[in-house]
Amino acid sequence: MNERVGSLLQEIEAFGKANDARAADRSQKMLNITPETGEFLSILVRHQPAKRVLEIGTSNGYSTLWLADAVSSTDGTIETVEMNPEKARLARINFERAGLSRFIHLVEADAAEVLAAAADSIYDFVFLDSERTEYLSWWPHILRVLRPGGLVVCDNAISHKHELEEFTAAVRRTPSSSMCLVPVGKGQLLILKHGEPA
Ligand SMILES: C[S@@+](CC[C@H](N)C(=O)[O-])C[C@H]1O[C@@H](n2cnc3c(N)ncnc32)[C@H](O)[C@@H]1O
Repeated sequence: MNERVGSLLQEIEAFGKANDARAADRSQKMLNITPETGEFLSILVRHQPAKRVLEIGTSNGYSTLWLADAVSSTDGTIETVEMNPEKARLARINFERAGLSRFIHLVEADAAEVLAAAADSIYDFVFLDSERTEYLSWWPHILRVLRPGGLVVCDNAISHKHELEEFTAAVRRTPSSSMCLVPVGKGQLLILKHGEPA
């Protein structure tokens, strides 16, 4: 990671902590992943190596920058979905400042619509960090848009374990997937879609 991206990530992390401590309304909180989670995502994307990444829940782009920095070394791109216009505006500024805009396509929309419209087996890697109560209904589409051998990471699997119970049960019932819990950051659910990549 170059110095420009590294120092911007530190700045956004500090901004997020200060902002979230004073924001009364949840919709105004940035709710960024931890730096350790960023490292974890980066290692997975680089190791896979993932060329097409989907992120659901951009906020102001902190996790997107970790993923974009990783796909900059895999010759890949990231699509990231955010429905809050103010957060999308902040994210665009951060992408420009990082010099990583060319790797990122920000979609301002409801993730449910984006998932429903996406083609089959197009993503190598999906990062879920959004409205947890929706994951269960999104799961069939997530599985469909993920290529065989693709990975899903879902944040907050320890911090909000109970909210994810029905989702994790559905994943466990899916014969074409395996899943484990990784104690990094707020807890990462790591899911593999079985099958050989094309
Ligand atoms: C936890 S924050 C994402 C934090 C970000 N991944 C990071 O680490 O910097 C969740 C975001 O998901 C967005 N969101 C919630 N429901 C959504 C939906 N149905 N479609 C798109 N974005 C959604 C919220 O506006 C919020 O900005």
